[in-house]
Amino acid sequence: MCGIVGYVGSKQAYPILINGLYRLEYRGYDSAGIAIIDGDLKMYKTKGKVADLENFVSGKDIKGTIGIAHTRWATHGEPNDVNAHPHYSESKQLALIHNGIIENYASLKEELIQRNYTFKSETDTEVLVYLIEDIMEKEGVPLEEAVRIALNQVIGAYAIVVISKNDPDMLIAARKGSPMVVGIGDDDFYIASDATPIAEYTKEVIYLDDEEIVCVRKGEKIILKTIKNKVKTPYIQKLEMNLTALEKGGFEHFMLKEIYEQPTSILDSFRGRLDAKKGLVKLGGISDYEQKMAKAKRIIIIACGTSWHAGLVGEYLFEDLARIPVEVEYASEFRYRNPVLNEDDIIIAISQSGETADTLAAIQLAKSKGATIIGICNVVGSSIPRTTHAGTYTHAGPEIGVASTKAFTAQVTVLTLMALRMAQMKGTIEKSKFHHLLYELESIPSKVEEALKVDEQIKELARIFTFARNFLYLGRGYNFPVALEGALKLKEISYIHAEGYPAAEMKHGPIALIDREMPVVVIATNKGTYDKVVSNIQEVKARNGRIIAIVTKGDTAVKELADYVIEVPETDELFVPLVATIPLQLLSYHIAVMRECNVDQPRNLAKSVTVE
Ligand code: F6R
Repeated sequence: MCGIVGYVGSKQAYPILINGLYRLEYRGYDSAGIAIIDGDLKMYKTKGKVADLENFVSGKDIKGTIGIAHTRWATHGEPNDVNAHPHYSESKQLALIHNGIIENYASLKEELIQRNYTFKSETDTEVLVYLIEDIMEKEGVPLEEAVRIALNQVIGAYAIVVISKNDPDMLIAARKGSPMVVGIGDDDFYIASDATPIAEYTKEVIYLDDEEIVCVRKGEKIILKTIKNKVKTPYIQKLEMNLTALEKGGFEHFMLKEIYEQPTSILDSFRGRLDAKKGLVKLGGISDYEQKMAKAKRIIIIACGTSWHAGLVGEYLFEDLARIPVEVEYASEFRYRNPVLNEDDIIIAISQSGETADTLAAIQLAKSKGATIIGICNVVGSSIPRTTHAGTYTHAGPEIGVASTKAFTAQVTVLTLMALRMAQMKGTIEKSKFHHLLYELESIPSKVEEALKVDEQIKELARIFTFARNFLYLGRGYNFPVALEGALKLKEISYIHAEGYPAAEMKHGPIALIDREMPVVVIATNKGTYDKVVSNIQEVKARNGRIIAIVTKGDTAVKELADYVIEVPETDELFVPLVATIPLQLLSYHIAVMRECNVDQPRNLAKSVTVE
């Protein structure tokens, strides 16, 4: 969750670190700090955002060619100046930044207190830097060895970077369960919790594996080893990240930019994988496993949040098209439930970030039972794709807005490709329908383009409902996950309570909530259970609820009933989530803007949830 950046080389570190923090701010934003060596080991940190840190240091002449920086999402200890990272060791010779949770920090802290160490913060991180220094002193070992020994005593997850005043050309970094990337420059090195702060300086990167420690010195070769002291050869990869993808590109917020990117990001997620003319669906990343998938007696999809909603669409697709039974599980529940798993099971793990701790843990559990794990991830080189047996990247490009938008539609697109491929292999779909669906899928980017044209109309709606206290979202069939996703988007960025429900379930409880004050968003596109949804709308109307309906272009029946109607282009029922989600994303966006909420960095949230 927290953002980490480090630099050592010949350039001035501060601009690199502060820019890096801005790039990483979506990972956490309740405090920020920097440590730099300029003769002395200097530290600047403050509660608040990176801009607050910049204000805090303004006027100070910060110099130095080595430094570390951190933007925090609090776990241990409230967000304040003292708990902000970096943390000094007791002697102030070392500074350390950390992402993750040291689970046994209390017992380690107790031991150190008994040996007269005095802690300043409430963080687990301070315990680790004290422990490292204690080992250096007690055992007379150099810093890199002390870090290694300390990490062997730690239970939990970490990505850390340490610097020492006494060795001002060296950065040491390590990871377990939290991501870490090393960028290799000409005679310098960049370290970060993801590649976004590195992309503008170098294209050569190394993704650390769990329990690896890297030691980099200006102008020298990288030293990579495991915490068990096994020396490893670094595997250098080419970073493919377009810098413009990291900028707002004229949009007011990343979220809006990412909503508008969807015609392209959907196209990118099927580019080279779909050829309607030739009747071809090809997913190179899973080709070795597709026979096994097609023969599977069941598929279990594991994910969290928005990715879980995409998984739900996947369930409908796989069952509809390929006749494979699917269960969709919250990773956080699945992993603690002692699920029944065996070697025949196929697990599809969906994650935008590829770092979600619960999803990773669920994968480990399923792997330990012999299941085959297929990943659907967006961030290239992240932990999940490196853990799975095979997988497919969504290629949606970096998603910076904390609320997931283009990643969702890209995940649904990839799931659609998988389901179509399975159906083709199993012969559960007629050839003509298969071809029709491929052509239809190819037309989705232009239909999404068209769906985006309701933006102005949605703005009007947002004005009307800016101060609503609750929202209900209803949908059936393929539109049920859309309702869930619409509700999640609204609550996370505008802080309005919203619930998504299967439309027919409303009468089993939520109908009691409906009155004049309750806006009800109904996704009532013209296929599937359309008539039934019309009846559900009537039930809401009869109780004075205010209906905002998402309908297919040209609809008449719902138009007569609904208070407000938003049209989306006609498409096959299977692909409706790809177009019907668009107005709901826009609605949540505009309401949040009108409520003056921080759209890209909603309170309490962070982009990649690397804690359990
Ligand atoms: C909602 C949102 C979250 C994520 C969830 C899983 O807009 O972004 O609900 O979908 O935290 O994250 P990933 O997909 O990175 O595993």
